[in-house]
Formats: sequence, structure tokens, C-alpha cells
Amino acid sequence: MLQQKMEIVKDPRIREIHIPYEAATKLRNAFASLRLDDDKSFIKTKTWFGSTVRYCLPEHQINIIQDFKESDESCALIIRGLPIDSDLGATPYNGYIAPSKTPLASGCHIGIYQLAGIEPISFQTENQGLLFRHVVPNPKARTEKSSHGSTHTFGHHVDNPDLPLACERLTDKSGCPEFLSLMAMRSDLSVRSNFVLVDDLLTGLSAGVIDELLKPNFKISRPDSFGQAISTVLPILVMDDYGTAYCRFDKENVTPLTESAAAALLMFEARLNDESLKHYLVYQPGDLLLIKNQRILHSREGFQPRDDGADRWLIRLFGMSSLDRIVTVYDDRKYIGKD
Ligand SMILES: [Fe+2]
Repeated sequence: MLQQKMEIVKDPRIREIHIPYEAATKLRNAFASLRLDDDKSFIKTKTWFGSTVRYCLPEHQINIIQDFKESDESCALIIRGLPIDSDLGATPYNGYIAPSKTPLASGCHIGIYQLAGIEPISFQTENQGLLFRHVVPNPKARTEKSSHGSTHTFGHHVDNPDLPLACERLTDKSGCPEFLSLMAMRSDLSVRSNFVLVDDLLTGLSAGVIDELLKPNFKISRPDSFGQAISTVLPILVMDDYGTAYCRFDKENVTPLTESAAAALLMFEARLNDESLKHYLVYQPGDLLLIKNQRILHSREGFQPRDDGADRWLIRLFGMSSLDRIVTVYDDRKYIGKD
């Protein structure tokens, strides 16, 4: 019998697994008769999603998914070949579609989070509080540098960067998402995404530059997906007690407020342009990228949509290691955080 090679290890900080055909078929069958309508019902069913994913996947892959959250080393997990719904309908160009229309992909997505011990969350004023954000080339946002844009390159960023990082104290706002995933429903093979590990960026910077990035001398504007003109003065970089670096850089939303902050930012961005640090990814349908949002900067190159109903379509989900980092807004939907 052939020895199955279920993981490709290029860099131990970036794990990559391929779901075997048999496991994907089991998942498809298990989720075939799902009748759930809204976010709340998907959240209510998360324990079952998690145990079903655990039942269907090989043990080696279960262990990799379960270890991801607590591992100091792992920053990204690429899961390829998850089953997705066969009758998708056209790419939802306006950015909204009920999770009941994509029950298999939504169930797999929540199930992977549950297996990883990650709480799916959303924010009150971002993406209308909805759990899943559809990353699509919205015709009305064509030139925006956002998840609904397309023409321009969407620069490197951490999502929701003005919210408190994992090692910062919460105030009246929920924490910045610790985890972020993107699951591909439709691909465009000409569109490359890439990400850069924060640790790799810092390795090439001087202590003086890092010191500047640690100072609260940067204006961080709230991203377009919130639809709010709010900005906060914060550092770009924060270190926890163990020396782990958390970052809130966002190419489109950071303004330095002093000359030395501007100089440090210039050095940081020059480092970000180093091709050797970039990990490129072209999504195929059924691929899911799960990252530690504050330990990685991600980006997408510009592209021209065809507007033919079959354009690139990813589904984004945010996660937190615990709902303790969420300032709850609604008693019946504790996964929605105040922002
Ligand atoms: Fe993003």
C-alpha cells in the first residue's frame, strides 16, 4: 500500500495539509442534509461540526489542526481540498449571501475552527455583524483597497488593526481578531495572494527601528469594511512578556506622526518589499488559509474581474482564542463583538 504523504513541510511555521479524497467524501456526506439558515444556527451547531470534522479527517491532520492555536512556532495553516457546495450560484458580487446557501463550506469552516479550539467571531459594525465576509470583486468597490476591491493591489495588512492586540488590555472595544481564515469557493488562477511573517520582517531591522515601531506614534485609521471614519494613535508593534511580536501594520491605514516614526516606517516597508520574505498562494476551490492575524501581514495583487458570475470568491472568517476577548453586544449572539 502506498504511504500517504498528507503534509508538505516547506517551513515549519507554515503547515500545509491536503484533505484525502476519502475524508472529503465523508465530510460531503455528513453535511449533505444540513438545514441551517443563519449565523446563529451555525454557531449553535459548532460542536457537532467540530466532532464531524474530527471523525472524517485522518489522525495526523487532526493533530496538526489541534496544535495550531497553541503552537508558538506555527503562524499559518493551509488546508487544501476541503469539499465545497456543488451548486454555488453566481459569485455574490454585492458581498452578501446567507450561509444557508453554502452549507457545506460554512460547516467545514466552522468545524475546522471548533477542532482548532478557535471561537468564530464577528464585529458589530464591520461586515454588518455577519460571521462570513464574502471576498469578491464588488463592481461598486472596484478601485477600493479592500476585500471587495479588485483593480488595485491590496497592500500588506493585519485585519481590524485599530482594535487591541492580543497582549494589549481591552477597553470598551473587543480585541483585534487573533485568527483569520479565507476559504476559496471560486478561484482566479491569475490572482496571487501573499503573506509575510512578522518575525521575518523584524529579523532584518535594527533595534532603533524596532524601538520606534513600539512607540505610540502612528495614526491607525479604521479600514473601509467598517464604513466609519475613526482613527486611533497607537504603536505598530507590541511585544508580549515572552518577546513574541504582535503587529498592526496596515499599508492603507497607517500614518506616522513624527519624523522618526516616518523613518522607521520607511525601513519597515522596505523590508516588506523583500521578495524573499513573501509566501505566495494561489487559491483553488476548497483551499482554506488560516493565519494568526497579528503575526502575519497579508496582501492580494490587483486583478481585472470578468463580471461573468464566475469571478474569484473567497469566504473570510475571524476567530479568537476565547470569547473573553470579545465585548459582547447581544446576549443571544455572544460571538458578535463591540468595536
Ligand atoms: Fe485582510
